[in-house]
Amino acid sequence: MGHSVDSAGLLVVLWLMISSWAYVGSSEGYISYEISDKGLDFVKDLLIEKAETSLVPLELPNIEKTVKIPVIGTVSMEVSNVTLYRVHVTSSTVKTGDTGILVDVAGATANLTMHWGYSYSTWLLPISISDQGEAEVQIEGMEIGLLLDLKNQQGSLKLSLVDCGCYVKDLSIDLAGGASWLYQGLVDAFEDKIASAVEDAVLKKLIGAIQELDSFLQSLPKEVTVNNISALNVTIVGDPKLSNSSLELEINGLFSLKDEAAVSKLQRENVEVPFSCNGPARMVGISVHENVLESASAVYFEANKMHWIVDNIPDQNLMNTAEWRFIIPQLYKQYPNDDLNLNISVHSNPILKIGEKQIDATIPLKVIIDVLDDGQVVPVACISVVISAAAYPEVSRNALAVSVKLNEFTMSQDWSKIGNLHMYLVQPVISTLLRTVVLPYINLKLSKGFPIPIFHGFELQNTELLCTDSRIIIGSDVAFIETAQPHTVFV
Ligand SMILES: *[C@@H]1O[C@H](CO)[C@@H](O)[C@H](O)[C@H]1NC(C)=O
Ligand SMILES: *[C@@H]1O[C@H](CO)[C@@H](O)[C@H](O)[C@H]1NC(C)=O
Ligand SMILES: *[C@@H]1O[C@H](CO)[C@@H](O)[C@H](O)[C@H]1NC(C)=O
Ligand SMILES: *[C@@H]1O[C@H](CO)[C@@H](O)[C@H](O)[C@H]1NC(C)=O
Ligand SMILES: *[C@@H]1O[C@H](CO)[C@@H](O)[C@H](O)[C@H]1NC(C)=O
Ligand SMILES: *[C@@H]1O[C@H](CO)[C@@H](O)[C@H](O)[C@H]1NC(C)=O
Repeated sequence: MGHSVDSAGLLVVLWLMISSWAYVGSSEGYISYEISDKGLDFVKDLLIEKAETSLVPLELPNIEKTVKIPVIGTVSMEVSNVTLYRVHVTSSTVKTGDTGILVDVAGATANLTMHWGYSYSTWLLPISISDQGEAEVQIEGMEIGLLLDLKNQQGSLKLSLVDCGCYVKDLSIDLAGGASWLYQGLVDAFEDKIASAVEDAVLKKLIGAIQELDSFLQSLPKEVTVNNISALNVTIVGDPKLSNSSLELEINGLFSLKDEAAVSKLQRENVEVPFSCNGPARMVGISVHENVLESASAVYFEANKMHWIVDNIPDQNLMNTAEWRFIIPQLYKQYPNDDLNLNISVHSNPILKIGEKQIDATIPLKVIIDVLDDGQVVPVACISVVISAAAYPEVSRNALAVSVKLNEFTMSQDWSKIGNLHMYLVQPVISTLLRTVVLPYINLKLSKGFPIPIFHGFELQNTELLCTDSRIIIGSDVAFIETAQPHTVFV
């Protein structure tokens, strides 16, 4: 792959990779992720690419060895400044199963440089003899295996290394400098020691990297800020679940008012809908329960963000009492030729139900007619409107956006200071208002969508979307869009 991955990015991937268990009888995970084999491979490739660059340069300890050679006597030899400068993985696999996540690097090559030297004295010659030079070491067929385990530790992911091994199969040393041709044979005595030094160093480095990854995972926030009103609870719920073809993970996934506990009114029913994304295999399946959408709308409702004053509409004539002469005669009589405002508010939490093909939304509105009389805002009547709408979800960048279409609405008079309103007369006006003002406004607000919590720096691509009973299922591939900045993890 041509892109570079920094460490946060990498960790993210691992998180994604690790993240896919669910439905182990847990009841509070409203967003779940299922990482398929394809997704795991993607993560594995990124991790390996990262490992190739972060493993090197790796300094190995000096190695000394004395060799007794007939006639010559004892020769002491040393290799120093042993540096692993290149590792290249040629074949690897990742498998999940009951025991954990197994990453198996079946083939890797590596290159080292080192400095060699020897010295000896012999009774044949009165002086001590020494020589030195450089050497290139080539490693073919290095094998590395890692068995990882992933658990939920107080709402964070705990990654641990269950087992690991590194084995250098074949190694060749080419000496250069000095009388190297003469000592080539002697140096071969170092092969085993160099091989085990490489094995030890690589393992140590990998263990360190896994610990780093684990601290990163544990440092991930359990709540992320969505905007200045709301936050999303990304606490891990239940233990990740591994099967032989995927990894599943659940997060709480509910929105709450920033700095306050999750929306209290929300029913905490048990959610146990198995999810399966049919069709072409995607890297990740994300399942979003309708409670997530409901919590989001509840937060906005509770934050009182769902009201607005309309004083400008396509048919501006309607914003003057003159136009209402025949619709509400009293209005014109009491306030001839005054301008109007409409104070529209969502007056209780919208109800969202995910159906077979769309989201059914019921939105209760109050429409207050305000007259602008001598600079005074005078509310004169209030109409209750209940909109029934269908919302069609789509994934746009990393957000779940919905577009809302009005199905029907019902209306009734709430109160009036301008006599009884004739609903059949008011209805066409309200209908126009809903279609030309309210719905476009709601759609504009919703077009940004709900963020789908995935890691910063990644983008969902090639997505397909499916509504099932009470859940939206997103099947998607994942790609890097930019280098992730450390610490900005989500959204
Ligand atoms: C160690 O080897 C590297 C190249 O592999 C070289 O740049 C460096 O100068 C060497 N250091 C010593 C102390 O010989
Ligand atoms: C590194 O080692 C591989 C085989 O182990 C060899 O094919 C390659 O040429 C070496 N690269 C360098 C720069 O020596
Ligand atoms: C929240 O952000 C919006 C713009 O995105 C701004 O209009 C509003 O004043 C902000 N509210 C607070 C409390 O900061
Ligand atoms: C995965 O496990 C299921 C049963 O849980 C089994 O039927 C299937 O053959 C297994 N697949 C592989 C590739 O091992
Ligand atoms: C976040 O979700 C976890 C798990 O469901 C829950 O225990 C915790 O109370 C939630 N946090 C807030 C602030 O609601
Ligand atoms: C709009 O109506 C609500 C009651 O539904 C009221 O609380 C609010 O003050 C009104 N806003 C304006 C600007 O009149």
